[in-house]
Amino acid sequence: MATLRLGDTAPDFEQDSTEGPIAFHQWAGKHWVVLFSHPADFTPVCTTELGRTAALAGEFARRDVKPIALSVDPVESHRAWVGDIQETQGATVNFPILADADRKVATLYDMIHPNSLANATVRGVFIIDPDKVIRATLTYPASTGRNFDEILRVIDSLQLTDAYKVATPANWQAGEDVVIVPSLQDPAELAQRFPKGYRVVKPYLRMTAQPHR
Ligand code: BEZ
Repeated sequence: MATLRLGDTAPDFEQDSTEGPIAFHQWAGKHWVVLFSHPADFTPVCTTELGRTAALAGEFARRDVKPIALSVDPVESHRAWVGDIQETQGATVNFPILADADRKVATLYDMIHPNSLANATVRGVFIIDPDKVIRATLTYPASTGRNFDEILRVIDSLQLTDAYKVATPANWQAGEDVVIVPSLQDPAELAQRFPKGYRVVKPYLRMTAQPHR
């Protein structure tokens, strides 16, 4: 199993889920995907994470992102747990949870880190673009619930880069000024892309208002 790196194609797979069997690439279609693993069903941090993802359904949809969760529990367990998430987190799980009891996907994506957590997946996140390219990854330990607003922020940054050739500075939040990518040097293209202008702090540090996304 090769390590997956940014820029690699997200491996395809077929696996069962709470929404029936999933052929990953076909299911993803031409959408962005957030594939995220959690250690186990019926555990406290995981329950809050899946509830938070469900509550953010509108934010994911607005960015054309399909979330898909995974743990190495069987599908009957997932289906029973979904009721608890609805009850305790007040949100309906409206995305599939992969039932990876045979660890096929966990192994393919190197989601089990036995020196951190034996026999279960850590909190892995793979942000995958519509061409199936892995654009960002995060790995958290079992004891730390992820910040799903941060995952949305990373997606905003990636989508801005793709559409407008801008990058986002440290601690950037939506609506704040962005950075023009260093590779963009042609004066005519700069004028065409940023008609309202930009600020040259240093020749390599050029700030501009966030383009509309
Ligand atoms: C949790 O989701 O709360 C959890 C899962 C595995 C280990 C520690 C915490």
